[in-house]
Amino acid sequence: MKAIVRYEYGSPDIVKLEEVQKPTPANNELLIKVRATSINRSDWEGVVGKPLYVRIGGLFKPKDGILGSDIAGTVEALGKDVKQFRPGDEVFGLILNYGGGFAEYACISEKALALKPAGMTFEEAAAIPQAAFIALQGIRDKGKVQPGQRVLINGAGGGTGVFAIQLAKLAGAEVTGVDSSEKLDFMRSLGADHVIDYTKEDFTKNGKQYDLILDVIAYHRSVFAYQRALAPNGNYFMAGGSVATIFQMLLLGPLIKRITSKNIQLLVVQTDSKDLVYITELIQSGNVKLVIDKRYTLSETAEAIRYLGEGHAKGKIVIEVPKGNA
Ligand SMILES: NC(=O)c1ccc[n+]([C@@H]2O[C@H](COP(=O)([O-])OP(=O)(O)OC[C@H]3O[C@@H](n4cnc5c(N)ncnc54)[C@H](OP(=O)(O)O)[C@@H]3O)[C@@H](O)[C@H]2O)c1
Repeated sequence: MKAIVRYEYGSPDIVKLEEVQKPTPANNELLIKVRATSINRSDWEGVVGKPLYVRIGGLFKPKDGILGSDIAGTVEALGKDVKQFRPGDEVFGLILNYGGGFAEYACISEKALALKPAGMTFEEAAAIPQAAFIALQGIRDKGKVQPGQRVLINGAGGGTGVFAIQLAKLAGAEVTGVDSSEKLDFMRSLGADHVIDYTKEDFTKNGKQYDLILDVIAYHRSVFAYQRALAPNGNYFMAGGSVATIFQMLLLGPLIKRITSKNIQLLVVQTDSKDLVYITELIQSGNVKLVIDKRYTLSETAEAIRYLGEGHAKGKIVIEVPKGNA
């Protein structure tokens, strides 16, 4: 089969379309004929090798050659313990702990997969999983956002932000989105009540406080800065960011909680197919809109990763994997 592989860390130029062996599903996995996949910041991170935690298991060379975690396609074969799906089913889901999605075929756990609604294209379905899981678990499950609460989403103009802004608004929150200058109108169009241009203003230094901060891009700040931006009993969850910030959170988060009653911690995303069903219902009912910024083919994946990594993407970037021809 054809797949996008990389053997080192570097710029997107290191990723190449190559012929590789088709994977075999484990007992609890399905083999999917991939029809579409999407790009997440985690793919950019896996290419450049930063933050450092992406090098776990492969400090100097990547452990897994193929990136890509969001997939939509048809079930080709089943591991012997798979109960809920049959060959031919149209499905979508998230390969969380390892990649493999930038390929004509990929293996995925049953737990992280749902049936694709008939009215949704493969490209639309592939734009959902990772970003929606982070947003749902940050805003709904951990954040438990209530009407009238002040919610700030840092990095709100990207893939996760598209869902997070809309979910926070649906929960009745007053939402502030933080991103670069060219994404301010985009965040407003998704429902953000206030927007902050991170190149001009530091949200931890403007005197405002929030009941929930969901941070998809936690770099450059100390946990004390986040603490300052939280209202009493407020919650801060870090979805993505640097290893230094992770260490600070693990070491100092519990101390800050004891002294100030403000909760600062990591968000560790779990896959649950019920979340995929939940978010597709919101999309189909028109309560949440999917935003696909650009579409590429599998052979153009390097360009797609570069487009996201260089900060151009407003919403999701989708890779179409045409039948039998990448
Ligand atoms: N916690 C977990 O279990 C878990 C699981 C999976 C993935 N993740 C992580 O979660 C993150 C998800 O990111 P995503 O896919 O939503 O990323 P994304 O689509 O790239 O969005 C990030 C946004 O942040 C903006 N940005 C860059 N620098 C910023 C700054 N200093 N302040 C504010 N905004 C800034 C970017 O815009 P510009 O570039 O234009 O500035 C972009 O719009 C990734 O880091 C991924 O590794 C976590």
